[in-house]
Amino acid sequence: MMKGLQRLLLALLVLVAATAQSQDAKMKVFVDALMKKMTLEEKIGQLNLLTPGGGILTGAVVSQDVDTKIRNGQVGGLFGVIGMEKIKTVQTIAVTQTRLKIPLLFGSDVIHGYKTTFPIPLGLASSWDIPLIQSTAAAAANEASADGLNWAFSPMVDIARDPRWGRVAEGAGEDPYLGSQVSKAMVRGYQGNDLSKNNTLMACVKHFALYGAAEAGRDYNTTDMSLVKMYNEYLPPYKAAVDAGTGSVMSSFNEINGVPATGNKWLLTDLLRKQWGFKGFVVSDYTSLNEMMDHGMGDLQNCSALALNAGLDMDMVGEGFLTTIKKSLAEGKVTLKTIDDACRRILEAKYKLGLFEDPFRYCNEERMKSEVMNAEVRKFTREAARHTFVLLKNDNQLLPLKKTGTIALIGPLADSRENMLGTWAVSGDSKYAVTVLEGFKNMLSGRAEIIYAKGANISDDSALAAHVNVFGPRIDIDKRSPEEMIDEAVAAANKAQVVVLVAGEASEMSGEAASRTDLSLPASQKRLIAALQKTGKPIVMVLMSGRPQVIEAESKTVPAIIEVWHPGTEAGNAVADVIFGDYNPSGKLTMTFPRNMGQIPIYYAAKSTGRPNDGDNFGKFKSNYLDAPNSPLYPFGYGLSYTKFSYSDLRLSGNTMKAAETITATVTVSNTGNYDGEETVQLYIRDLVGTIGRPLKELKGFQKVFLKKGESKEISFVINNELLKFYNASLKYDSEPGKFQVFIGTNSSETKRGEFELVK
Ligand code: NOJ
Repeated sequence: MMKGLQRLLLALLVLVAATAQSQDAKMKVFVDALMKKMTLEEKIGQLNLLTPGGGILTGAVVSQDVDTKIRNGQVGGLFGVIGMEKIKTVQTIAVTQTRLKIPLLFGSDVIHGYKTTFPIPLGLASSWDIPLIQSTAAAAANEASADGLNWAFSPMVDIARDPRWGRVAEGAGEDPYLGSQVSKAMVRGYQGNDLSKNNTLMACVKHFALYGAAEAGRDYNTTDMSLVKMYNEYLPPYKAAVDAGTGSVMSSFNEINGVPATGNKWLLTDLLRKQWGFKGFVVSDYTSLNEMMDHGMGDLQNCSALALNAGLDMDMVGEGFLTTIKKSLAEGKVTLKTIDDACRRILEAKYKLGLFEDPFRYCNEERMKSEVMNAEVRKFTREAARHTFVLLKNDNQLLPLKKTGTIALIGPLADSRENMLGTWAVSGDSKYAVTVLEGFKNMLSGRAEIIYAKGANISDDSALAAHVNVFGPRIDIDKRSPEEMIDEAVAAANKAQVVVLVAGEASEMSGEAASRTDLSLPASQKRLIAALQKTGKPIVMVLMSGRPQVIEAESKTVPAIIEVWHPGTEAGNAVADVIFGDYNPSGKLTMTFPRNMGQIPIYYAAKSTGRPNDGDNFGKFKSNYLDAPNSPLYPFGYGLSYTKFSYSDLRLSGNTMKAAETITATVTVSNTGNYDGEETVQLYIRDLVGTIGRPLKELKGFQKVFLKKGESKEISFVINNELLKFYNASLKYDSEPGKFQVFIGTNSSETKRGEFELVK
C-alpha cells in the first residue's frame, strides 16, 4: 500500500517537473525570438520602472513624460496607476503603439489588502495564524488583480528589533522562524499555484536585505552585521520567500557592510542567485540606484553600471539605466550579456503572468465590479482583524464588557476614520472604514448608551502633526483647548459605568520615514488618562499603533489594555466584537514591548553574556542596568485571553537523540477559565553548547489550539535534527552535538522546560 502510494507520488512529481521543464522550454523559445527582434534601446527600456504619480509617492521624484517613454519602448512597467480603466488605457498604448507591442507590468504596494484593507502586517503576524495570513494575501491578490494590477510590492519580511523604526508596522516582527512562515504564506497567497491566473499577483519580497536593522532605528540608515548574525537571524525570511517561488525581489535602500544593497554583487548575485537559486528578477527600491551617489559610489553612470553588474534588473523611477547603460556598454563598463540577462528576466516575468498571451488578462470589468470591496471580503477583513488583537492586561476580568448600561467612549482615535486603515494602505479609501464609535453603535444600538468624547488630540505638537500629515490629516488638532476636551471627557466618564479609551498612534506615525525617538504616549493623551483616572471609573485602553509602545506607566495604572494595531476597513466592528466578548482575543506579540526607550533594541532571542544577570535582580558587575530591569514590559509571544490556559506535565520521549532520530515533546494545555478560547502553544529551543554562542531561546514551532472551557489537550512537537541546525562561523549549516533545552509555553518567558542531548 505504502509503496504504491510512494510510486504514485513519485510519478506525480516527475510529471510536475516535466511539465515545468516543457513550460520553461516554451518560454525560452518565445523570449529568444522576441529578444532577437529587440534593439539595445528596447532592451534597456524593459529595465525601466516608472510612476506617473497619482498614487502615494514615496520618494521626491515623479516620472515625467511617461506616455512618450512608453511609446518609445523605454518602459518595462509602471506603478502608482490605480484603477482598471486607467491600466487598460495605458496597456493599450503599450500593446498597440510601440514597435514590439510588449505589455507592461503594473505594480503597486498591495501591502495589507488592496481597497479592502486588512490589519497592518505587524497585526496580521500577531494572529500567528499562517493559513489566515495566506488567505488575506490571496484575497488582496484577488481584489487587486480584478482592478488591473499584476504585481504586488509585498511581502515585506525585514526582521525588525528596533521599534523606533516606523516600518516595523509593515513586517512580521522580530523572529526569523515566525517571519519565515509568514513570508512563505504571503508569497503563496499572492501567487497561488499559477501566476498566469487572473486572480493572482506576482509577489516582490522586500527589502533585500537587512533594511530592518538600520542603525538607531532611523529609516534608510546603515546596517553593518556579521555574516553569522545575517544568516541565522536576518536572512531566513527572504530565503523562505525565494523557496516559495517569489517572482521578484526588491533591493533595499541601506548599505550592507559598506556596499549599498542596490549595487551589492555579493547580495544580489552570489547569495540570491548562486546560493539560493533565485530565478526571478530584482527591482530597486524607489530611486535607490540614484541614491548610491549619496552613499559615495560615484556618479549616476558609475552607480548604474555597478548596480547592473551586481545583479539589479529593474530600476525604479530613477532612470539611471535608461540614461547611462548604453554609454557604459560603449565604454566597456557593462556587457551586452548582462543587459540581455536582465531584460530576459523581465520578459520572463511578463510571460509567466500570461501578459503576452493576453495583456488585458487583469482588466476585466465584470471581475472588477464583483471583486473589489465586495461584502465577502469586508466580512473576511473583520474576521481577520479580530484575530490580530493582543490582550495585554485584564485585571479582575474587566473585559469583556457587558452590552448594557452607559459606556463612555473616549479618545482621539475613537472616531478617527482616517487612522483606521494604518500605514501603507495606498489604495485603501478611509471613507469606507468603520470607526470604533460606529462599531460600538452597530453592536449596542438599543441595548446600551454610548457617550463619546474626543478627550485629547493624538498630539498637541503642531510640528509633529505637520510631519505626520503629508498624506492628509491624521493628527487633527482640535479647535478647542486641551482643557475643554478633557472636561468634556471627564463629564462623559462621570455619567458612565466604564470608560473605553482609544489611544495610541496616528496611522502615519509608523510606516516609511516615520522613525520615532519616543514611543511613550504623547503628553496630550497622558494628561487625558490622568484626568480620567481621577473619576475612579474603570478604564479599558484600546491601544492603536503601528509598533510596540512604551506604556510601562499605563500598564501599572490602567486595569485593562488591548493592543489592536491599525485594524483596517472593519476596524470598529472588529474592536466591538472583542471588547463585548463576541470573540475571545487570541493574538500574541511578535515584537517585544520594552519598558523604556533605553532598552531598545530588545528581543527575546538574545545571546547570553559572560556575566548573565540573575532575572531582574540587579548585580554589580553583571550585564544589567542600574535604573531598569533587563526584562521587557511584555515579551515576544505574549498575549492574554478572556479565559485562562495552564500548562502542565512537559515530557520528552527520550533524553538523547541521534541526528537521524526525533524526540517528541508533549505538554498538557488546559482551559481553566470561564470562556472557550484559542491558545498559541509555543516551542522554543536553546542550544547549550556550540562552536558559536547561541541565543537564549529560539522559536522552533507553534500550534494554535482551541479549547472549550474546562477542556485539556495534549500538544506535541516533533524535534528533529533540522530544527537544531544553524550557521556556524564558517557558514556551514548543521547541528552540533551537546545538550539542548526545550521550552513550551504561552509566551517566550513563561514556559515549562525539558532537556535532551544530541549525540553525533
Ligand atoms: C519605497 C518603499 O521602500 C517600498 O517599500 C515601496 O514598495 C516603494 N517605495 C514603491 O512605492
